[in-house]
Amino acid sequence: MPEPLQAPSRPAGRELRDAQGRTISYLRLSITDRCNYRCVYCSPAKAPRADLDRAQIRRLLGAFAALGVRRVRLTGGEPLWRADVVAIAADAAALPGVDEVCVTTNGTNLAPLARPLRAAGVRKINVSLDSLDPGRFAAITQGGRVEEVVAGIEAALSAGIPEVAVNAVVLRGVNEGDAAPLVRWCWERGVTPRFIELMPFAGGVPVPTREVQARLAADGVRLWRDAEAPRDHGPAGYREGDGGRVGFIGALTENFCSTCNRLRVSTRGELQACLGGSERVPLAHLLEDGVPASWLEHEIRSALARKEDGHRFLEPKVSGRLLSMMGIGG
Ligand code: 5AD
Ligand code: SF4
Repeated sequence: MPEPLQAPSRPAGRELRDAQGRTISYLRLSITDRCNYRCVYCSPAKAPRADLDRAQIRRLLGAFAALGVRRVRLTGGEPLWRADVVAIAADAAALPGVDEVCVTTNGTNLAPLARPLRAAGVRKINVSLDSLDPGRFAAITQGGRVEEVVAGIEAALSAGIPEVAVNAVVLRGVNEGDAAPLVRWCWERGVTPRFIELMPFAGGVPVPTREVQARLAADGVRLWRDAEAPRDHGPAGYREGDGGRVGFIGALTENFCSTCNRLRVSTRGELQACLGGSERVPLAHLLEDGVPASWLEHEIRSALARKEDGHRFLEPKVSGRLLSMMGIGG
């Protein structure tokens, strides 16, 4: 194994690498698997379950930060319905080595929380919004009101959150025609839209990224070249257009695994190195008072040593066992 590269602000050996030599700098942490929506392609938990508490989360994030994680994303379920979400975001932002705290939300509780989250140090917010059409939005989310989400996005922008993105999942025969209006709406506001290929967790028929791109072109959204990948970029590929950028996450049709820099931890403290893999490593028992931090770090390192080199969504045995996005950190 080559000697790990030394990060400028970190002692040698404090960079997390997986078995494939990929540097792992990004942690997605689900802080609840419950949600007020019931999107057709997702199945959030209905009954309350034991989420990690704030102290456990602080310990967990401390270990990952010590190991070299620089970016933390709080996800769910819907993270903004958790009463202590602002405090958790502030804890994360205060960790030495963590230079970016992001949140992924459905936007329904974002309007009142945008300013407190900004004050807590949140830099990026991704809001899920599959259609601006009230009827189709309600159909996809099974009852959601698009105005609430729009108000949440507007609030994030006026609170001065530096980066606001919209995540949209395109479903065959449902919202293909909503993609172009969504791009224009985002661009008018300085928001980056990103289209995510549907992953086989629950309902809906996916539309491949290439088809979404073709549909955008047919509907008058010109994307003229590949945009430069943002720093630490993950699976999204960006294209530049007249009014801004558009991201595409071809979860199934494009193999982005070689650039994967992320880990996921569920709301019950299970580490999942790959969203498409099946291994889950329980960490909750290492988050109690009195357990040496080195045990937790050891467990994390050894799980990473087993991170596979590519996802296995397309293998029937794995996709049959895949959980919903909920609880595994989106
Ligand atoms: N396939 C693709 N994306 C999904 N999301 C939730 N479930 C799925 C799925 N089955 C998206 C949400 C949100 C992001 C975190 O993940 O729409 O934008
Ligand atoms: Fe909730 Fe997001 Fe799942 Fe929709 S996709 S039900 S908003 S967690």
